[in-house]
Order: sequence, then C-alpha cells, then structure tokens
Amino acid sequence: MPNFQQIINRIHSDLKATKNTGEVADYIPELGKVDGEKFGIYLNNIHGDNYEVGDTQVPFSIQSISKVFTLAMAFASQGNELWKRVDVEPSGNPFNYLSLLENEEGIPRNPLINSGAIVVADCLVSTLKNPKEDFLQFVRGLAGDDSISYNLEVAESERKTGFRNYAIANLLKSFDNLANPVEDVLDFYFHQCSLEMTCEQLSNSFFAFANHGKCMKNKQCLTEKQAKRINAIMLTCGFYDEAGEFAFEVGLPGKSGVGGGIVALLPNHYVITAWSPPLNPKGNSYLGMQALEQFTTETKSSIF
Ligand code: DON
Repeated sequence: MPNFQQIINRIHSDLKATKNTGEVADYIPELGKVDGEKFGIYLNNIHGDNYEVGDTQVPFSIQSISKVFTLAMAFASQGNELWKRVDVEPSGNPFNYLSLLENEEGIPRNPLINSGAIVVADCLVSTLKNPKEDFLQFVRGLAGDDSISYNLEVAESERKTGFRNYAIANLLKSFDNLANPVEDVLDFYFHQCSLEMTCEQLSNSFFAFANHGKCMKNKQCLTEKQAKRINAIMLTCGFYDEAGEFAFEVGLPGKSGVGGGIVALLPNHYVITAWSPPLNPKGNSYLGMQALEQFTTETKSSIF
C-alpha cells in the first residue's frame, strides 16, 4: 500500500513552495476576506484510517460542494421524477451560465451548475418541513458531526450580490420550472452554499459516496443507487467547463466550490479533500487541482 502520509506531505510542501497564480473569489464580498495562504489536504480511506497535512481543521465556505448534498436529498425524496426537471449532461460552460437554459426550455443541463442546483433547491423547499434546518441535519448526519453550521454573513453577502442567480431563478420561473417564490428558493440556496466545513468534515461527509451509501458509522445514509448515480454526475459535471480536464488529469468523481475546496473519491477506497482558496480562471482551486492530480498519479489510484 502507498505511504499516504508521506505522499500528501510531499505534495503539500512542494506546492506550497510554488507560485500560486490563482485568485481568491470576491464576487461574493464575504468570501474575499479569507486568507489565501491556507492549504490543507485530508484523506480518509474506507478502512477508517485518515491522513492530513496543513490547514485541515479550519472551517471554510463549501459553496457549490453543497450541491452534492442537496442533490442527494432531493433524489432520495423524488426518485427518477427529479430528472424531468433537471438533466444529467455535462454543460461545458461556466457554473453561472444562463444561455443554455434559454435554448433548452428551462431544463438545466445538470444539478451541479447553479441553474440545476436552484431547481433542486426548489424541490427541497417544496418537500421539507423546515428546509434550512432539515438540510443542516442531513449534512451533519452524513459527516457525523453536529458542529457544522451556516455562515449567515456569507449567505447575506450573496443575497445582496447574487444578481446572476436571481436572473437564473427568474428565467426558471418563466419556464414554469420553479414552484416556489424566487426569494424563498434563493434564500435556501444561499444558505446551503454558506455552509462551513473543514477538510476533515468534508471528507467524512463524502464517505458514503465512496462506500455504497454507508456512512462512517456503517449506517445506510444513502442507497447504493443514489451513491452510484451521484458519483457519475460528479465525474461528468462536478467541475463545470473543467470537468473534462479534471477527469483527464485526476480521474475521480469530485466536486469543487468557489471557497477553494475540492472533494474527490475513489469508490471502495478513499475520499480526499484539498482546500486552497485562490482559484484558477475556471473557478476551481488552483493548488487543489494540482494536489489531486499529483496524488492520483503517484498512488496510481484513479478510476481509469
Ligand atoms: O451561486 C454561486 O455563485 C455560489 N454560491 C456558488 C458557486 C460555486 O461554488 C461554483 N463552484 N466552483
């Protein structure tokens, strides 16, 4: 078995020594306050071993990574009906793109771009009794950690500046693909994106996706089918217009967020989270992408 600790230590120190040409996202003003020097890598395998280096215990804004959790929840309650309102094809476009919606009659390409995640949020607003509270409990259950919370300043900061998301939600509404008021759906969406988690909590919360739906405490948190389908969507759609590049370089299902986090997993083996806030031009963590490429190359552990 490869020496995981030695490998992530080496990757962390080599990348820390390189010039980081990424930029911290500040289109949501609160996100711009984060320390761009932070860098952590956390790995847990399905036998229960874990390895970490750097800033793995600092909570950060998970942003779009939350779309995987809302998708899991909505797929559990709606089953295949969900796919009538959102497709499962890669978009090849940036996460906040509108024009595909217009050409495709208000059916978003997939649930991991903003338009698709807003449809998924609408499903949850319709079906959950207390959407924000119930969603938080779901994520805490996946991670086995009750300390996970929303960052209300980040949610409010996005509410004040999320003009493109308002445009997307209104366009969805015009196509009759949003059942609830725009404000209610976006309030939920901005909160889900504002969740703060550490690299360790994120790795733990994705454990079920690497383990046929069973969480770390061996509880069946997701069905096998949910884990299989959502992993496929992460592989093809988890990195927007860089999904092909991520499959090419890293070769794992995964999901990124503009807070600089990336989670990826090898089914039956491990979950790995890298966090470094500066982003490359496509909105994915500049160091995180390189860290994962080096990890799967060195451990010969992509799905391909
Ligand atoms: O809706 C937005 O723009 C953000 N709340 C989330 C975007 C995001 O994380 C895209 N990921 N790379």
